[in-house]
Amino acid sequence: MPSPQSQSLDVRTALKQGIHLLREAHVPSDTLAAELLLLHVTRRDRTWLYAHPEELLDPQSIESYFALLRRRAAGEPTQHLTGKQEFWGLEFEVTPDVLIPRPETEHLIEVALDRLAVRELRSGRDAKLTGEGLTIVDIGTGSGCIAIALAKELPSAKIYATDVSRAALAIAQRNATRLGFQSQITFLESNLFSAFSEVGARYIVPLHGTQPSPGTSSHQSPLTSHQSPLFDLLISNPPYIGRKETSNLPIEVRDHEPASALYGGEEGYELYGLLIPEAARHLKPSGLLVLELGHDSLPAVRPLLESPQWTNLLVTNDLAGIPRVLSAERT
Ligand SMILES: C[S@@+](CC[C@H](N)C(=O)[O-])C[C@H]1O[C@@H](n2cnc3c(N)ncnc32)[C@H](O)[C@@H]1O
Repeated sequence: MPSPQSQSLDVRTALKQGIHLLREAHVPSDTLAAELLLLHVTRRDRTWLYAHPEELLDPQSIESYFALLRRRAAGEPTQHLTGKQEFWGLEFEVTPDVLIPRPETEHLIEVALDRLAVRELRSGRDAKLTGEGLTIVDIGTGSGCIAIALAKELPSAKIYATDVSRAALAIAQRNATRLGFQSQITFLESNLFSAFSEVGARYIVPLHGTQPSPGTSSHQSPLTSHQSPLFDLLISNPPYIGRKETSNLPIEVRDHEPASALYGGEEGYELYGLLIPEAARHLKPSGLLVLELGHDSLPAVRPLLESPQWTNLLVTNDLAGIPRVLSAERT
């Protein structure tokens, strides 16, 4: 292939060459990746791309485009190159500090909303939910995608979003602010429930590295045990890949996404064993637990919920037929 920088390229040719370069490198979804990278450098949308195949690209755009294609061919995820990923119809900033939101995680939101609506109907209230009176926690928020999607759907709910990673919380807070949900979500640095336990009260990660000042609102102050709420919904997509599976992971995941977001332990399902018993202590009676599962987690995780503390267990498959969401109600 001639050096792209040395020639002027139209949109159609640039796209064709990009797809070819990625295909040669065995990049999955090569056409989509080339399109997204070209859209990113030209700052255009897909309609423009296909409406103007003859338009000539400027040399700067060609250079940037081929530089990104080479990085993609070497294994960097497209989302790290464009800095964004869509989830639940919203655009999220992503960096190597957070897991790239996956489409299957949207099933968690669907299950949570369905089960909350059923709970309302059962109590004789209107199934149309605004989240009024609901307190929700998202454990391991990463980019904030779950907490923010719920904030969009349940504008009156009070939402807490936790993560053990301070760097991830900074991204989640940026996403909440850019999308306009910052006042609805409290972000907490927390190892599972440590921010809600007596000894483990932790501080909110301050926005832009500023320290919380005395007298600021509760979402900028440490939580103390007597402030720790009981939740109506506890939702989590915990790390669930086994360390023993590391060598089978695609390079995009293994070398570019944060280990703390990927690995749940040697087997993968270890974190559920810590999370589920604790969850029971932090949910209201009839409170809902909604968990994402790894492709083979169900046999290890379901028995943890087969106890008198839990009822109405439900397994929901993803579009590939994999048991993806396990949900249950606190008795
Ligand atoms: C699989 S990622 C999910 C991120 C995001 N919720 C999503 O669905 O895209 C798991 C997240 O849990 C966080 N995490 C790992 N161990 C944790 C722990 N012990 N307590 C709280 N968060 C934890 C990781 O930092 C990571 O952001």
